[in-house]
Amino acid sequence: MLKTCQNDLVALRAANQAAARVLWEMIRIIKPGMTAIQLDDRAADIMNELGASSAPRLTEDFPGNTCISVNEVIAHGIPNHRVFRCGDFINIDVSVEKDGFFGDVGYTFVLGQHRDPDLQNLCRTARNITLMAVKNSLPGKRLNEIGKIIEDETRRNGYTVIRNLCSHGVGRCLHEHPVNILNFYDPGEDLVLEEGMVIAWEPYISTCATRAVEVKGCEHALTTHNRSHVAQFEHTVLVTGSKPEILTVI
Ligand code: CO
Ligand code: CO
Repeated sequence: MLKTCQNDLVALRAANQAAARVLWEMIRIIKPGMTAIQLDDRAADIMNELGASSAPRLTEDFPGNTCISVNEVIAHGIPNHRVFRCGDFINIDVSVEKDGFFGDVGYTFVLGQHRDPDLQNLCRTARNITLMAVKNSLPGKRLNEIGKIIEDETRRNGYTVIRNLCSHGVGRCLHEHPVNILNFYDPGEDLVLEEGMVIAWEPYISTCATRAVEVKGCEHALTTHNRSHVAQFEHTVLVTGSKPEILTVI
């Protein structure tokens, strides 16, 4: 677990801001007709400008700088040469290392003007659920209380949580203690949040799947067994003595 001193906090904020700047630039420039590799190349340029490096490339030997997951791929999509089309359902997850600290942020959206209202609703709900987890990241709060909030709110909206993808601590590693935070209620979880802890909340909210499975023949990419849609919004948050500080904002 990261025990943050003031200098660490400066570096941690900078790493997370770098991740957020890369993500927002990608969202600004993405358009139909472009490929994920072109988008990912631009991400690499921005990381360079910011003195950051790609965390998945560094830590997972991932063949890309960012994870770009399209349609049936829900996570860890490898940037490829397929051309984006209007209506594609896209998740971009950016994690970077900068000066020994990590930042992690993710966003899901439908590309183009003509948006499917069901997918829009899934995105809006998933985003709200992540923000609820963030707002509840307070000292003294048990992790499983937040898991319960995520699970209850997901069910209330008629969706399901992908149970084998976890939220996690962030710091000098991309995945740091507590590494496997369940995005649902786990009666056996007794960890309590403390001031100075840093958590990346990233519940994967689905129309009807509960598990992510590997895409056949691909070491990294994940899908669902029933091709249901899944949206993920990720923010890295610092637990403080008062209100939680979202680090992945610019
Ligand atoms: Co991420
Ligand atoms: Co993450």
